[in-house]
Amino acid sequence: MPRAFRDLREFLGFLEEKGDLLRVRTPVSPRLEMTEISLRALRRGGPALLFEAVEGSSTPVLLNLLATERRIAWALGEEDLGAVRTRIEELLHIRPPGGLGAMIRDLGTTLGQLQTLRSLGPERVTRGKCQEVTEPRVNLEEIPFLTCWPKDGGPTLTFGLVLTKNPESGETNAGIYRMQRYGPDRLGFHAQIHRVGAENLRRYARRGERMPVAVVIGPDPATLFAGLAPVPEGLSKFSFAGFLRGKPVPLLPATSVDLEVPADAEMVLEGYVDPAETHLEGPFGDHTGVYSLPEEFPVMHVTAWTHRSDPIYLSTVTGKPPTEDAILGRAVGQIFLPVIRMILPEVVAMDLPLEGLFMNVAIVAIRKSYPFHARKVMHALWGLGQMMFVRYLVVVDEDVDPRDHREVLYRVGLQADPQEDLELVHGPVDQLSVSNRVPNLGAKLGIDATRKWASEGYARPWPEEARMDPDVQRRVDELIRRDPTLSRLLPSSRP
Ligand SMILES: Cc1cc2nc3c(=O)[nH]c(=O)nc-3n(C[C@H](O)[C@H](O)[C@H](O)COP(=O)(O)O)c2cc1C
Repeated sequence: MPRAFRDLREFLGFLEEKGDLLRVRTPVSPRLEMTEISLRALRRGGPALLFEAVEGSSTPVLLNLLATERRIAWALGEEDLGAVRTRIEELLHIRPPGGLGAMIRDLGTTLGQLQTLRSLGPERVTRGKCQEVTEPRVNLEEIPFLTCWPKDGGPTLTFGLVLTKNPESGETNAGIYRMQRYGPDRLGFHAQIHRVGAENLRRYARRGERMPVAVVIGPDPATLFAGLAPVPEGLSKFSFAGFLRGKPVPLLPATSVDLEVPADAEMVLEGYVDPAETHLEGPFGDHTGVYSLPEEFPVMHVTAWTHRSDPIYLSTVTGKPPTEDAILGRAVGQIFLPVIRMILPEVVAMDLPLEGLFMNVAIVAIRKSYPFHARKVMHALWGLGQMMFVRYLVVVDEDVDPRDHREVLYRVGLQADPQEDLELVHGPVDQLSVSNRVPNLGAKLGIDATRKWASEGYARPWPEEARMDPDVQRRVDELIRRDPTLSRLLPSSRP
């Protein structure tokens, strides 16, 4: 069982024990200064930062919470991301058919897995720390929202878990959407058009009703992670969070809207979005590293504010990678590989490089078994949830590690012919994508950098790779070992 952190505080205690939390006692401004400090720390792989003396506010600010792969793994109760991936793999694993006995065994496993998920669904509670204080009056100016970049349109809540409900199914969704502050009780509702939160708002619009919204700040770290993860439709984010934690998420009715909120979060903002109302949002220094242009987005009216008696404000900083959200995006790619492999078992490994801006660039290694197999994988991936946003998709053979970008570039240069091996398609692209001429739609390029086969029209013999004879390598190792001058200069061929 993974280690479940009951709340953010317990996780902070754990990080402190590990020496991976730094308390900053020097006064720092949430206007630009925290961004600069957070990014400098992040680029060195530094610890999470708890700013205890925040200029203009009595509320401490927490940054860089999940800014290393190790902290993400810890947040999900494991020592490394591979262990989280293995757990997801085990949950999804369905053995290939092997006679009636195996089928019955598999049925048992599958039912057991479903049972596990059901038992990890949220637990209803009647009290919680997130409601220790109900503010008599909402004043968002008391919360130290960061202004991350000099030309940002205003202070912005960047790491809130935004809860909305599908009015038809009653299912609650949790997604991380930024919220720019427009005034003491109004926020921008920046759910991009492809997000579940935006779809829920369209559902309310069709009914001619306002949409209730709750924004959770500082839930337990697994629930936070579930909010940003591309959880397959039909699986509740709270159940997924329960699975990640190995323990149900306790949910408590919000005080003024028909939504349930994680009981032990730091703060909750409650209110509504009127589908008929929009406001200019931005500019905002986005995860692309450039300012997203001002654009009309819906508005959240905050009607209630509850919090712990001594809340911490959790935030994050976007910008040109490396940033926390890019590190999280790459981790999602690693952890969710088993979900992709359920549909595409030939995908052996995948990387979403930080510099590729979340999903703009993806590299997948496949076990190629028929002509044009790489193209089949490209089209399947472009049809799979948020993988539709991948603008450049490089496919390599299974012996290439997608995280080894030098090797990947080598394979592209060596093995991809610009005339024959590119697949250019059009489709929906991320709302924040910059290079497309028209917002939300654009082109995507697949690069087949696998070795080419005769059956793919490659008429020449595929060249053999020039590799050194292992006997020679062994002899040279021996020579180096015996010669002090050489041994200072040359590494051994063995790692
Ligand atoms: C730090 C951070 C900030 C994000 N900000 C936004 C945002 O402002 N708008 C948005 O639509 N998605 C944003 N996302 C991405 C979504 O949270 C992510 O795509 C998530 O899977 C969406 O969930 P949903 O499909 O349930 O709506 C952000 C992600 C992170 C990690």
